[in-house]
Amino acid sequence: MNPSPEKPSHRYQVVIVGGGPSGLLLGSLLHGAGIDALIVEARSPDYVLGRIRAGVLEQGTVDVLTQAGADARLRSEGLPHDGFALCVDGEVLRIDLKSLTGGKTVTVYGQTEVTRDLMDQRRRFGAASVYEAADVAIGDIDTPHPFVTFVKDGVTHRVSCDIVVGCDGFHGVSRRTVADKGLETFERTYPFGWLGVLADVPPCSHELIYVAHERGFALCSMRSPHRSRYYVQCDLNDDAKNWSDDRFWDELRRRVGPAVADNIVTGPSLEKSIAPLRSFVAEPLRFGRLFLVGDAAHIVPPTGAKGLNLAVSDVHYLGSALREFFLERSSAGIDHYSARALNRIWKAERFSWSMTTLLHRFDSYTPFEQRMQRAEFALLQSSQPARAVMAENYVGLPL
Ligand code: FAD
Ligand code: DHB
Repeated sequence: MNPSPEKPSHRYQVVIVGGGPSGLLLGSLLHGAGIDALIVEARSPDYVLGRIRAGVLEQGTVDVLTQAGADARLRSEGLPHDGFALCVDGEVLRIDLKSLTGGKTVTVYGQTEVTRDLMDQRRRFGAASVYEAADVAIGDIDTPHPFVTFVKDGVTHRVSCDIVVGCDGFHGVSRRTVADKGLETFERTYPFGWLGVLADVPPCSHELIYVAHERGFALCSMRSPHRSRYYVQCDLNDDAKNWSDDRFWDELRRRVGPAVADNIVTGPSLEKSIAPLRSFVAEPLRFGRLFLVGDAAHIVPPTGAKGLNLAVSDVHYLGSALREFFLERSSAGIDHYSARALNRIWKAERFSWSMTTLLHRFDSYTPFEQRMQRAEFALLQSSQPARAVMAENYVGLPL
């Protein structure tokens, strides 16, 4: 524990379980409102920063980071993108986000950098965080005074508070705490994963390219003009160790086709990992004084770049609800948090599922289902309203 080690059982207004992007951003918004929050994170800061994940920020996400005062580097280093390309069986279709949405765009800026900016800000604020907390547990959520316990350096701490927020990701303790309290879950797993590679090479295109090919999906993305992020659909049970860099680059080149392949600059991978694909929603998002946020509550397959953005919209809703609760003594916001957040979550789930279904190779698909995929792409090619719906969802539905 760096701050307040001398007061390990200090009382806080809010305890945030999990110091990923959701927990850090909520902590920042609460600090800005003068609300005292402790973040309890199971891992070390370096471990949290070592996870390479999302890369595309919606305008609404940039706005919330701006409200939090964590946008300086994002403004100078983030890459605005006006569109992206879909490449299906060799045919290319550009989705012009800007013209299809009346001027909206997205920003390419890695989740790692968002997390680093928020961690740096929290350190500057001197706000309390406990890293490498073991055996985190949550209690008394059905009373006005819940608590969180954890072990740090062999010492057990008990922190009481008014509100506990579960920002501890899909495998965290928060959702487990309410598993037998009427929590309902909705899930779809997909029979494949994404193998991702990060490399210090210039991107092959100035815009992202989503590729559907008979050998499987591929995605050409980036983090900066000098750093690229690429993905290929792979077997769910595959191991990144089976993929030498050469094997990865060869497979990527085959899927993107000759025109794009000619522009791919290869180099040693900085990171290589496989992520499973899953759609998952838990309902409701409030149990007494415990609130679920971000990946603790829902997972989307990454195809629509929605995971991090959805976590940020939850934080936005809960942040304003907690301001109302603590500063205006009104429960209206926290009473509506679950319904308000779930309304947007389900729409993002629908979009992520439809992008995944459109662009991946499903070995189990019948010829009919393959024709449906082709017809979906043909509709996008011929219909401006169909492209507008895709663009509206990709830039992010209103908060
Ligand atoms: P997380 O980032 O999971 O943070 C949760 C935090 O809680 C972690 O730091 C964890 O260590 C901590 N924690 C866990 N258990 C406990 C506990 N018991 N006590 C205390 N702390 C705990 N989205 C995209 O849009 N594009 C992508 O390409 C993409 N790739 C992804 C790849 C992977 C492998 C994964 C897992 C996710 C990916 N996502 C992607 C989704 C996106 O990264 C998440 O939506 C985002 O990280 C959600 O943030 P979060 O803070 O809610 O959860
Ligand atoms: C990235 C990941 C995505 O899932 C996506 O849709 C776009 C970009 C990325 O990691 O850069």
